[in-house]
Amino acid sequence: MSNERAQGLLLDRLINSPLQHASQSVFKDMTSYEALCKEAQKEPELFWSRLAQEHLQWDHPFSHVLDKSHAPFYRWFDDGALNASVNCLDRHLGTECEHKVAIHFETVDGKVTSVTYRTLYERVCQLANALKERGVEKGDRVLIYLPMGDEGVVAMLACARIGAIHVVVFAGFSAIALHERLQDTGAVAVITANVQCRSGRELPLKAGVDDAIALGGCEHVGTILVYERTATAWPRQEGRDFSYAELVSQQPTECAPVSVSAEHPLFILYTSGSTGKPKGVVHTTAGYLLWAKLTMLWSYDIQPSDVFWCTADIGWITGHTYVTYGPLAAGATQVIMEGVPLYPDASRVWKTIQRHAVTTFYTAPTLIRALIKAAAQEDVYAPESYDLSSLRLLSSVGEPIDATAWRWFYEHVGHGRCPYVDTFFQTETGGHVITPIPGVTPLVPGSCTLPLPGMDVVIVDEAGEPRPWGQGGLLVIASPWPAMARTLWRDDERYRQSYFPEELGGTLYLAGDGAVRDEDTGYFRITGRIDDVLNVSGHRLGTTEIESALSRLDHAVAEVAVVGQPDPSTGEAVCAFVVLKKSDYGEEVARQIAQELRQQVARDISPIAKPKFIRFGSNLPKTRSGKVMRRLLRSFAQGEKEAQDISTLEDPSVLDHFSVIY
Ligand code: WTA
Repeated sequence: MSNERAQGLLLDRLINSPLQHASQSVFKDMTSYEALCKEAQKEPELFWSRLAQEHLQWDHPFSHVLDKSHAPFYRWFDDGALNASVNCLDRHLGTECEHKVAIHFETVDGKVTSVTYRTLYERVCQLANALKERGVEKGDRVLIYLPMGDEGVVAMLACARIGAIHVVVFAGFSAIALHERLQDTGAVAVITANVQCRSGRELPLKAGVDDAIALGGCEHVGTILVYERTATAWPRQEGRDFSYAELVSQQPTECAPVSVSAEHPLFILYTSGSTGKPKGVVHTTAGYLLWAKLTMLWSYDIQPSDVFWCTADIGWITGHTYVTYGPLAAGATQVIMEGVPLYPDASRVWKTIQRHAVTTFYTAPTLIRALIKAAAQEDVYAPESYDLSSLRLLSSVGEPIDATAWRWFYEHVGHGRCPYVDTFFQTETGGHVITPIPGVTPLVPGSCTLPLPGMDVVIVDEAGEPRPWGQGGLLVIASPWPAMARTLWRDDERYRQSYFPEELGGTLYLAGDGAVRDEDTGYFRITGRIDDVLNVSGHRLGTTEIESALSRLDHAVAEVAVVGQPDPSTGEAVCAFVVLKKSDYGEEVARQIAQELRQQVARDISPIAKPKFIRFGSNLPKTRSGKVMRRLLRSFAQGEKEAQDISTLEDPSVLDHFSVIY
């Protein structure tokens, strides 16, 4: 192909989408982006040190930038001291931000409460005082099990204020999952609500905490604080359980912050790994907070006039970084929505943008796909039926976004005038890793484009050698960065083995995703997980966890294998291959067992992990050495029956039995 033609094709694919009202303070154009990347490459410690001094408020300045002496257990800004809640709240008092709205909280029934930075500060201080009164101290773990709302943000910051380490557990997780996290962290207190309001129903939440504690071994939990979302009564154990009205509302609205070391753990957040139990990812204070704030500036050009709306729940990393710490550290106004954006229907999303004049809308591809479907059904669900002219930036995270959905969002929601910021990151990376700079990086539908300055992202082969553009491989981060996870809670060895494998030389951070760089642009495209982690609607689920849950139905189940199957609405769906103990069952029995299996997964993990497809058969396909052939199951589930070499398969006919889906 001639150079000119290649150039033409390339330009054809790139979309230059200028950002309206851009502050352009950091990046004016690609040259300034490249200059910052170079600065980070040349003198990484100077680069990060400069940013940490400019963007964080320190109680005590740091003198070391990076301690590599126990790599891969890096330490950043180690001898500095600060407080995260001060950086998110106190810092704004006495500025024009003090009486600005920090959070517009919208309940499922459409009631809006607007909380200023001053009020948020006072609420955080009150809750922090209540925790102190109950004896919670610096370093103690506090588990937060709350529905999505402003109270969750208050709870996280109250912990940070007194140096307690928060452990947020998504309110959709089961009592068993909660028990596992309570035990693993040895939490001394739980902050929960009597109920959560979701999809028109009130679901008990406090009762779930009681169920978790009843499973035993949680004597360390000395306090349960119950936020009363509604007037519904909740089970109470005297001396341990308190309502907000009793313990929080009367507290003073000032609470002296506890100054902690830069490396003091700020939170533990559990996420699925490819094997065994969930990983308790530990993030520390300064490095994480720095990145939360910087990425608000870099990826979102956040400005005082912006109204930011991130639809993620605080139970996930996106909620931690882009609901709690990032927007507040940046002094932004944001929208928080109770319940799910699609309830009562898809118009809620557009009405919310219109009502609050949202400028920056950050969501998940799964929601975009659902919105596309709804918009095609009725005009009231179509974005065109609303005034969305306030929008200036669109963004998504959690899954690859296909080019068609990208274009729909860009054209129908952003009317071609809002840059689309596809952000790639992970629980372990703390904040964005690969993402376009809005208004600066030319866009390609379906690509997260290029790494942010300071993020040394490389694609390597199985031996850790760099791959050329155009050839896929493993996504790794080759240099430490301040917001990286520090370890897995009480499991340094698992941290090292999971993220810095010896096969790659022991120094590269292995993300667990495959990726490829475009031959022409060098842009990154994430090709999906390379391990046994599924991505269902942007939720990370471990296949082994689901398999264990299914196997617990042991009166019926002999053996199971779980794989992911591409799905038009959830991206990937859980598909379970199950061998039952009895072989003589009829359709009715199979249907009933399938239902029991789904309930078992909901009970053990969460309804989000329930298998969409269940297939029964007489034997799992195994190699002669007895290993389950997962790749074969994956392609079978996709309907690619003969796509694989089955010569090593003991009995090639075993798959036929699995044809019926329940
Ligand atoms: C996937 C969520 C493609 C990826 C923030 C990663 C993505 C996992 C993208 C992390 C994206 C996240 N494009 N895939 N823009 N963003 N992923 O820890 O597989 O819940 O490893 O963090 O989501 O999921 P986690």
